[in-house]
Amino acid sequence: MKRFETDPQGLVGPDAIKSWERMGCLVVENFISKQTCGSLIQAADRLVSEFDMAEAATIFSTKTAKHAASEYFENSGDKIRFFFEEDAFDESGKLVVEKSRAINKIGHALHDLDPDFEAFSYQPRLGMLAEQLGLKDALLLQSMLIFKQPGIGGEVTWHQDGSFLYTVPQSVVGFWVALEDATLENGCLWILPGQHAQGLQKRFHRVNGTLQTVDLPDGPRFDESAAIPLEVSAGTLVVLHGGLPHYSATNLSSRSRYAYTLHAISGQAHYPEDNWLQRGEDMPLRRLRP
Ligand code: FE2
Repeated sequence: MKRFETDPQGLVGPDAIKSWERMGCLVVENFISKQTCGSLIQAADRLVSEFDMAEAATIFSTKTAKHAASEYFENSGDKIRFFFEEDAFDESGKLVVEKSRAINKIGHALHDLDPDFEAFSYQPRLGMLAEQLGLKDALLLQSMLIFKQPGIGGEVTWHQDGSFLYTVPQSVVGFWVALEDATLENGCLWILPGQHAQGLQKRFHRVNGTLQTVDLPDGPRFDESAAIPLEVSAGTLVVLHGGLPHYSATNLSSRSRYAYTLHAISGQAHYPEDNWLQRGEDMPLRRLRP
């Protein structure tokens, strides 16, 4: 996979645009400095340390049935909520691993609710880049801090982001920023380059009040034998087309793999009411470029 850089305004050359169109992915090295990576890591760790674990215990205890956990997820589109690795809690809701290691991710509105992540997310260079990659009137829909903690950070199976953040026409673009080096050992991204343009295989949405994954008619078949790993250093931005299948393995190393991800959709596309992620009327989506 070829790698690119932006200029200080966020502009890339025609080679980068061509590569994006062909591969459904763009790797932008040195998008942010190591210092900025460090500040975002600190901001994430601060959020975790401020989080009340008693709240988590009531939500994630395996005894409380699935209901509390699914409500907690389904209503997180306009909140900052904390999600834990499987098996982090026992039946009674007691944490069975160290708090800082137990957390899988924070989501899904860090970009609108936390000043540190807001400043980062709405930086002009990102908006400039989105526009060059063909995203019209980009709106920031979702943000996540993904921890991939050593020894416990779980696998994320092959998926297309468009299945979860569905628009008509498909418009979602993911911005995945490595805050730490991502390697084969600590669970870097894997992609199926060029397999983004065949449409969506599945859709995850609300059917009769419950969230379900549904196979779409005439969905594509993917060739997973063509998968390539994207090992990148801290500060690299990976832009993912909403149709590009991607995956990441369990982190079996002794190092974490923090990444901050943002998903933007076109303000000109239709966003269905049965998508999982919904926002309250008092918190409308904001433009990536004001
Ligand atoms: Fe994804």
